[in-house]
Amino acid sequence: MPLTVTPLTPVFCAEITGVDITKPLDDATFAKIRSAFDNHSILIFPDQPMNDAQQIAFSERFGQIERSGGVNPGAGTSFSRQSNIDIKTGAVIPKDDRRMFYQKANMLWHADSTFKPVTSLCSILSAREIPPVGGATEFASTRAAYEELSDAEKAELEGLIVEHDFIYSRGLVGFTFTPEETAKFPPVRHRLVRTNKNTGRKSVLVGAHAKCIVGWPEDRSRALLDGLLACAEKPENSFRHEWRDGDVVVWDNQAAVHRATPYDTERYRRVMERTTITFGGAPEFPVGTRTAARA
Ligand code: SIN
Repeated sequence: MPLTVTPLTPVFCAEITGVDITKPLDDATFAKIRSAFDNHSILIFPDQPMNDAQQIAFSERFGQIERSGGVNPGAGTSFSRQSNIDIKTGAVIPKDDRRMFYQKANMLWHADSTFKPVTSLCSILSAREIPPVGGATEFASTRAAYEELSDAEKAELEGLIVEHDFIYSRGLVGFTFTPEETAKFPPVRHRLVRTNKNTGRKSVLVGAHAKCIVGWPEDRSRALLDGLLACAEKPENSFRHEWRDGDVVVWDNQAAVHRATPYDTERYRRVMERTTITFGGAPEFPVGTRTAARA
């Protein structure tokens, strides 16, 4: 069966079949996958159970894998683990444990690694163990949010710089860091409007880490960022993926945001392994000082 790209909504998301991504891919096959990624932002590959080495090999076709950091149990490795299972003991992590509290922020719309000086191109999430109920992942198109703007609004956005701040976004769910942890995550700045180099289509870099538009008053800044996100998450611009055993999903962190959804963490196991690909190149702006706290 040939590689087949089946769009799942008129706006974004496609299912890819007819390819085995657990095996090495020739360049022509990967070029089709990369083109589907540029055009559809979210790619769902059903029935591709993979181990760590296979996920690394597939991920590296997109670029260089980031080392994960923060409080994630995979910190220091190529993997960021989204799970309620203790990586060392295999036991379920109690729901009031700091590690579970930390993961609550994944339920806010976000794009991965926008809080880093160099943002991310994409993430690859493989389902290793899924709960029978709940634990879906939702996606929203920040390309649609841009494309729905009027020409005047698009012109206003051009050149704007947005500050992304990990300490701020984790604070939105009440998570606090030690001073040592805080020092590791200074705020960073990126251009709000992004252009896909292969398609020329534009999107906006918003989501939970986006704290403010640099130089704008706080209320105007918040209204713009929230308005763009609200447009992305409209039903026609969003998609909910209910995981099946062996699913692998690739998402574009420049053109979409995503969020985890709840499941019964004390009753069911969920083990998802994420690799994240750096956008590459130098930081867009020097890492700066924290702009005024939110109201
Ligand atoms: C993530 O936010 O990176 C993971 C989403 C999920 O666990 O569903």
